[in-house]
Amino acid sequence: MQLIDGKVVSKAVKEEIAAQVRQMISEGKKRPHLAAILVGHDGGSETYVAGKVKDCEDCGFTSTLIRFENDVTEETLLAEVEKLNKNEDVDGFIVQLPLPKQISEQKIIEAIDYRKDVDGFNPVNVGRVSLGLPAFVSATPDGILELIKRYKIETAGKHVVVIGRSNIVGKPVANLLMQKGYPGNATVTVVHSFSKDIKEQCLTADIIICALGKPGFLKADMVKDGVVVIDVGTTRVPSDKTKSGFKLMGDVAFDEVAPKCSYITPVPGGVGLMTRVSLMKNTLLAGSKAIY
Ligand code: GUN
Repeated sequence: MQLIDGKVVSKAVKEEIAAQVRQMISEGKKRPHLAAILVGHDGGSETYVAGKVKDCEDCGFTSTLIRFENDVTEETLLAEVEKLNKNEDVDGFIVQLPLPKQISEQKIIEAIDYRKDVDGFNPVNVGRVSLGLPAFVSATPDGILELIKRYKIETAGKHVVVIGRSNIVGKPVANLLMQKGYPGNATVTVVHSFSKDIKEQCLTADIIICALGKPGFLKADMVKDGVVVIDVGTTRVPSDKTKSGFKLMGDVAFDEVAPKCSYITPVPGGVGLMTRVSLMKNTLLAGSKAIY
């Protein structure tokens, strides 16, 4: 069993990005610039955005944080999105989710110019990904693919079972793995809460991507020997052993599943770290106008 180490890979990718930024600067080009809109003071969102700002520093990007209070109107937020769409100095930007209930997240996502949508949430990017066209791929699916590539895991002709059909993980990762090329050319099955044969499907899987948000869902009796397991779960559960008062739990019963695996991602230290780095990859692509 080999552990897929998100810490090592994310550090390597970040260093590669920083080297490319140094190269851009030496050629007289401008630093990539990521802006983030943060509404309110939700602890989780504050932590995520602080991490993104720190990642920008590490990569040599410029970053701008724009804050609004929880009672901001949809109109004000849309006006800010429009301002960033037009701001030529900003290469890409994100609006941290979730948003307060008076604001339609979908409306905001659709208002972001797809050429600056480094989250890859705008329907233009989602559609282009599903067509196999160059686009901003959203962070979690991109992070999963990066890990598969870095560990040279074969996907052609393999049976991939994706557990979960969310718009941000299950659907796009299934789509990407069935595209022509590498990583891709896989036979992909998506199972979800209405599926009657999850265990049977998993037992025939060469690769399982677990993204349903139920701690410890995937058990040893659901996987075959030599399987590759990618755990996308990050459920926060209360813990008296950590400073923060919670710990992250994956969707995989790691201790019993790991001995049967050829490769497995840990939680924490697996996919989660890669999602942060994928946003930086997209910002570099936006800054170098490599896609649009
Ligand atoms: N909230 C949790 N994850 C994300 C993300 O990847 N992007 C944005 N914009 N909000 C999030």
